[in-house]
Amino acid sequence: MPDIEQNFINMYDLVLCLTNAVDLISPEVADHHQKVAYLSFRIAEKLCLPISQKRDLVLAGLLHDVGALSLDERLDLIENEPITSENHAYIGARMLEGFLPLKRPAEIIRYHHVPWNYGEGRTYKGHSVPILSHILHLADRIAVQTDNQRDIIGQISAIRKNILKQRDSVFMPELVDAFIEISNYEYLWLDIVYKPLSYSLPEILAVDNMRLNLDKVIDLTKIFACIIDFRSPFTANHSAGVAKTAEKLAELAGFSENECKMMLIAGYLHDLGKLAVDKNILEKPDKLDPSEFNSIRSHTFYTYRLLQPIKGFETINKWASFHHEKLNGNGYPFHLSGGSIPLGSRIVAVADIFTAITEDRPYRKGMSDDEAIAVLKRMCDENCICSHVVSILLDNYDTINDIRKDAQEKAAAEYNYIIKSPY
Ligand SMILES: [Fe+2]
Ligand SMILES: [Fe+2]
Ligand SMILES: [Fe+2]
Repeated sequence: MPDIEQNFINMYDLVLCLTNAVDLISPEVADHHQKVAYLSFRIAEKLCLPISQKRDLVLAGLLHDVGALSLDERLDLIENEPITSENHAYIGARMLEGFLPLKRPAEIIRYHHVPWNYGEGRTYKGHSVPILSHILHLADRIAVQTDNQRDIIGQISAIRKNILKQRDSVFMPELVDAFIEISNYEYLWLDIVYKPLSYSLPEILAVDNMRLNLDKVIDLTKIFACIIDFRSPFTANHSAGVAKTAEKLAELAGFSENECKMMLIAGYLHDLGKLAVDKNILEKPDKLDPSEFNSIRSHTFYTYRLLQPIKGFETINKWASFHHEKLNGNGYPFHLSGGSIPLGSRIVAVADIFTAITEDRPYRKGMSDDEAIAVLKRMCDENCICSHVVSILLDNYDTINDIRKDAQEKAAAEYNYIIKSPY
């Protein structure tokens, strides 16, 4: 019996999973999102802000730079150009705002690079800027000055000096004062370099209350799919196509309503581990060299390990992460074979291949129906993919292909909306 049926999924687990995935992109800024979330929390605590605001701030901190992934900005570089780099903040906010539990965190993220500028930063282009955005901004600038590789306590006085220099010009004075007061505590800095979000925060924030039912998990993981896909116009709507195709295949294979929802989630997340793969490799149109090839092939391993800590996601994880395993045992990275590959994983595998070969990409058109069918049949003959699942697909080819196209067109429209600047 699939695990999620009895349980709610914890939103904090899901958000942390995304944070960990994003931090794989740029090891140079290791744990940046965690550090910012933690520092924001401590400043808010010093200011005695209510728990709901602290929670919003932590969620905003954990996700604040996700919009940078769709741009050609590297996470380590944007940290050096806070005032002009507003685009990633807006894009991040637009990605998240449609999901109700993240609506307020999205507002905080939208303005997280607005300087205080002697009070002018109370508003930005006619919109009022939440104080929480100014806290996030300050925490972000403090976090980028910390270096995990060196003695952290020894860094305190230089960081304090730098921040004080920008009191009132860049940062809101009350926030700087609060930071200066708490900056004497060694534990705060030691926490920053020692995975604060797994140890100190969950209890204080009562994250157990952040529960999502299956429908809400679908909404949130659809956003994850955008973050995964929007990194590159080459894959800008791949996960949406896979998810909807897999969901329909599951329905036709006799899966229950809840299992079909789980399949949709697995489809949205199947390439989560691609966040760990360099964008230049993802977009390379010609042959990959051996080490680039190894890097691409690592993505399902990362999907598996990233999803592993989420309680209630055991089945979804297998369905999502085994999509490059082959029945003949020649897949990767676990080399499962035959009966050890669950039907749900076989469905995602077929949905992934079908979507990949039929979708248009900037450097090539998708295959014709005849070509695609020939490829799928050949892979069945080679005992790579499940012929039962492929027969379901071929028996319902037009219906499923329309569902795939429709999902990808919608995702493409969303991509254009999110990517375009409002100014
Ligand atoms: Fe940022
Ligand atoms: Fe940042
Ligand atoms: Fe994949």
